[in-house]
Amino acid sequence: MTTNILFSEFKSTKLSLKNRIVMAPMTRSQSPGHIPTSLSVDYYRRRAEGGVGLIITEGINIDDPSSAGYSDVPILHGEALSAWKLVTGAVHECGQKIAAQIWHVGCNRSKDFDLDNNIPSVSPSGIYYLGPEEQKHSVSELSLKQTEEIIESFARAAANAKEAGFDAIELHGAHGYLIDQFFWDKTNQRTDRFGGDTLKERTRFAQEILKACRRQVGSEFPIIFRFSNWKLGAYDHHLFQSSHDLEQFLEPLTAAGVDIFHASTRNLNTPEFDNSNLNLAGWTKKISGLPTISVGSVGLEQDFIQSFTKSPSNSIDPLIERLESDEFDLVAVGRALLADPHWAKKVESGDFSNILPYTPDCLSRLY
Ligand SMILES: Cc1cc2nc3c(=O)[nH]c(=O)nc-3n(C[C@H](O)[C@H](O)[C@H](O)COP(=O)(O)O)c2cc1C
Repeated sequence: MTTNILFSEFKSTKLSLKNRIVMAPMTRSQSPGHIPTSLSVDYYRRRAEGGVGLIITEGINIDDPSSAGYSDVPILHGEALSAWKLVTGAVHECGQKIAAQIWHVGCNRSKDFDLDNNIPSVSPSGIYYLGPEEQKHSVSELSLKQTEEIIESFARAAANAKEAGFDAIELHGAHGYLIDQFFWDKTNQRTDRFGGDTLKERTRFAQEILKACRRQVGSEFPIIFRFSNWKLGAYDHHLFQSSHDLEQFLEPLTAAGVDIFHASTRNLNTPEFDNSNLNLAGWTKKISGLPTISVGSVGLEQDFIQSFTKSPSNSIDPLIERLESDEFDLVAVGRALLADPHWAKKVESGDFSNILPYTPDCLSRLY
């Protein structure tokens, strides 16, 4: 099967890319003092040289003190800005583009992280529902004022991303982190304007973040919004049971200024709802009319929750079929690009037998 569609240009109103391959955001925990290093520059440069059209960075913490959930995760302010300029410069030298993923973990902090006891974990209603029981820790409920301050903190990060030379931002609204905690009725039981009985009402926090970011970056700067229908530690909980639920979710976010949706799934070949083969990105494009990024197990047999086992490589033919049917526009590739920074070029030249295999130790050498 020809892979030409993967290597065709992508053009949208605010973002043009050389091809359809996006590097999925992947936390590296390799930024001591929260500042990206020369190894970070090399890491991203290698993927750009390897032919990735758009790199989405690892999640980057905003300047709210409770934003960080893991060790050595980078920030997007102060001293880190000049370090990020080196990263964006390196990617641009290779003729490719890069988006900053902006992230607040809310209550979903790793217990391995050296928590500063003066900085509480926060969540919309002070409820910790995610993750295994033994990871539970005390969580403080965000006041209205704190919630509004976090929105401004996201907006400052967006402005800083633009200043550091990023081509776009991606807001991390997926996987059970803070923005997603506002979407979920189990973690959001607020009675102010950020709560509500309907999913639509619970998108209010994300809407206000989108609008605040937009005010900072202007009308021409692309904003990508990542979301998922699963959560770390609560895999079986679904925000959307049907395409109708998804519509209630997407409509206010689209109106608030999303340019591209990134629908995070663990395997992009899994249909999202009954009676259709469309995956979550496919439904998202159909409902919103916006360009979408799909993701999940490209080139690999097992999904990323099974990251600690070796995943044999797998055919990309089903992905090509979905792209050719215009189900979605772009595809994010995670672990396959950790294993082989030149994955895209090798696929383009049909050199499949020389693609380096994904093994769990790729996670401990994120270079
Ligand atoms: C090591 C690792 C770190 C990740 N960190 C993030 C992250 O910071 N932000 C995010 O949205 N997703 C993160 N993910 C999820 C990936 O973006 C992607 O959705 C997932 O790996 C599925 O793609 P794949 O099957 O091609 O690996 C991470 C995944 C891995 C394996």
